[in-house]
Amino acid sequence: MRLHNKVTFIAGASGGIGSSLVQRFLQEGSKVILADRNPSACQELLKKFGKDDQGIVIEMDVTNESQINSAFDASIKKFGKIDVVIYNAGINELKSIIDLSYAEWSKILKVNLDGGFLTSKKAMCEMKKTGGGSIIFMGSIRSKIGGENDAPYVASKHAILGLARVIATEGAKHNIRSNVICPDYIRTPLVEKQIEQLAQEHHMSKENVIKKVMLPSTVDGEFTTVEDISEVAVFCAAFPSNALTGQSILVTHGWEMG
Ligand SMILES: NC(=O)c1ccc[n+]([C@@H]2O[C@H](COP(=O)([O-])OP(=O)(O)OC[C@H]3O[C@@H](n4cnc5c(N)ncnc54)[C@H](O)[C@@H]3O)[C@@H](O)[C@H]2O)c1
Repeated sequence: MRLHNKVTFIAGASGGIGSSLVQRFLQEGSKVILADRNPSACQELLKKFGKDDQGIVIEMDVTNESQINSAFDASIKKFGKIDVVIYNAGINELKSIIDLSYAEWSKILKVNLDGGFLTSKKAMCEMKKTGGGSIIFMGSIRSKIGGENDAPYVASKHAILGLARVIATEGAKHNIRSNVICPDYIRTPLVEKQIEQLAQEHHMSKENVIKKVMLPSTVDGEFTTVEDISEVAVFCAAFPSNALTGQSILVTHGWEMG
């Protein structure tokens, strides 16, 4: 077990990647705080994967600063500290810029970026008091490259990289590390919705969307899995020194090497 005696706070714990993170971090011996706008799904996860007093569920909307601050305060009251924070909450809606309203743009930026700022700000304040920690963001291949009909998502995921680099710089004196995991497509509910939308737009079967639109740049045409992402998250969380900070790690089957 690589995370024995650690405490991990997962913002956005109930979805595809979140569920796998919860399962894996519990298996690795960490205490886990499942903070999400969907507490009942989180309770199910904790019941399924947790034992004894290994985790707690907190209802939290990442766009609400006071809910974020209260969630951290309740977690510290329960477990005494937070060693690892994973900012995994994210939403998307595919639309071209000319069809996109400012409200639609702002909604995505608020969850994908502003929530990351609010969560990491509170995390840094708490980690500073307890000797440091590791802040991990769920970025995307879209942190590195553009994409059609994806402006707010691409912009927010690029911006998360910048935020993580500043946290790495400002956090160093407090022993706080920050890294970004950048997956390509994973078949979670978020991506299933995109496959259907792209199939309609391109007048293609879902199989052809996957082969010709989504994965043509990978080395093997394979989807990345939630387990692949959890493996990298554990690696970042358990890394023993500050050598690994300010980095972005592509987990993409070779798409966008370098
Ligand atoms: N699935 C992919 O292919 C893929 C690829 C690259 C990056 N990502 C990123 O991984 C992360 C997880 O994505 P997923 O595919 O598991 O999606 P998902 O839709 O299954 O999960 C999203 C999670 O975010 C939470 N969330 C959304 N808005 C929230 C809010 N306002 N407050 C609190 N929680 C909120 C949801 O409850 C859920 O737990 C996202 O940041 C996404 O951008 C996903």
